[in-house]
Amino acid sequence: MAFPTETVYGLGANALDEEAVRKIFVAKGRPSTNPVIVHVASLQQVQQLVADWPAVADQLARKFWPGPLTLVLPKRNNVPDVVTAGGPTVAIRWPRHATACALIASAGVPLAAPSANRSTELSPTTAVHVFASLNGRIDAILDDGPCLGGIESTVVEIGERVRILRPGLISACELEEVVGQVELLGQVEGVAKSPGQMLKHYSPRTPLHVVESVEELAELLASLAGLRVKVLPMWASPNEAANRLYATLHELDSQGFDRIALQLPPDTPEWAGIRDRLRRASSE
Ligand code: TXA
Ligand code: MG
Repeated sequence: MAFPTETVYGLGANALDEEAVRKIFVAKGRPSTNPVIVHVASLQQVQQLVADWPAVADQLARKFWPGPLTLVLPKRNNVPDVVTAGGPTVAIRWPRHATACALIASAGVPLAAPSANRSTELSPTTAVHVFASLNGRIDAILDDGPCLGGIESTVVEIGERVRILRPGLISACELEEVVGQVELLGQVEGVAKSPGQMLKHYSPRTPLHVVESVEELAELLASLAGLRVKVLPMWASPNEAANRLYATLHELDSQGFDRIALQLPPDTPEWAGIRDRLRRASSE
């Protein structure tokens, strides 16, 4: 069943039932090498899933849960291999969304849930987006309006150091206020080190071009002369950008442009999640 969270809609199944989780991969056309996030609604549920709960994990959970932070920790044996892509760790988050938490509570089990879209497509921030991508392939959609966060959670590995595997709604600065220095994997490095972090991801159907400066934008537009190009203005803040990003790309995809172009926001920690999604969305 697809359900809303504060980030994007997820496609959920009982995380402890191998066959149920397998159906998520079939519906999405997701490669089995890409592990999924397990959603919980209590710290008790976390204890059933992890083999170790270091102090740093506890600090992060107390500060950011429920919320858009995913913690990667050593898994217990009861977590099926299909959830973790055969790896020794499991990714967990407690969403800050009343409907998601009510669903998890009524299911009585943690829910494995990747974003509710076909693999490599844009993530859905409304039930209509889910329907357009997965109608006929899933049992149900729990519609509770648009997701306010708008981009996916920050994924953090808790090992000897705290490492950001996927930037998201919670920035490196916010994490550092709690746990001291965190490591941020470079884009290409991140692709190699985090299973499932494929470079091409989160893509609109209309080709997207991103540039760093006004000068590059002018050059790009000159090279695209004759095509119908939509130039997207950058949003005022990272939160507004996250809230609007996928919804805007979904809308533009239905408007028949040949290309979408935009100048990236500055290369600062607050914008890392937005820059990451835009770079992936523009990757060929
Ligand atoms: O906000 C979100 O995180 C949304 C909502 C539905 O919760 N979910 C989401 O799931 O974005 P998905 O599957 O689209 O992205 C999960 C990413 C994977 O691409 C993978 O790289 C990483 O989390 N991941 C999951 N398990 C992991 C593990 N054991 N080790 C490292 N990375 C992992
Ligand atoms: Mg996804």
